Amino acid sequence: MSESCNFQFRYSRLRGEEELASHEKELVDRAIAALSSSYSPYSHFRVGAAVLLENGEIITGSNQENGAYPSGLCAERVALFYAGARFPGVPVVSMAVVASSGSGITENPVTPCGACRQVMSEYRATSGKPFAILMVGGNEIVRVDDVELLLPFSFSLSDGSKRK
Ligand code: THU
Repeated sequence: MSESCNFQFRYSRLRGEEELASHEKELVDRAIAALSSSYSPYSHFRVGAAVLLENGEIITGSNQENGAYPSGLCAERVALFYAGARFPGVPVVSMAVVASSGSGITENPVTPCGACRQVMSEYRATSGKPFAILMVGGNEIVRVDDVELLLPFSFSLSDGSKRK
């Protein structure tokens, strides 16, 4: 017999940085600082990301575009892959992402693309620990306590969530 299922999740809408905990504020400030290293001559859309690891390290990244367009990479994946390369196996605690398009930070929070959500999902699965995301906009900041919620039915190889 078929079963009807439902998926829903809670998230927080914050009115600004003043509603963040101090460690979150630092992460957001680092993501904003990372905007300056964006290489986005094609889209002119800058994205900055900052990743806080369990060992206290903060790794930042920005979007890096390329004349062969699909070769470019989003800020979130630049930061996560760099974190994975520098500190293999160290769980991610939280991440912040922010964007700017010419006239400063976008009004609405920037929300990660599907490919970045897939990558977040696998880092989260390998660590087995929740990992929060702050999506920053000029109007509001959206906080989701666990990135797992952003991609239901994410892809996983049968043993792909185990670091070998
Ligand atoms: N981009 C990101 O870096 N992160 C996102 O979450 C969405 C899009 C980048 C890719 C490209 O360099 C530019 O933004 C425009 O799509």
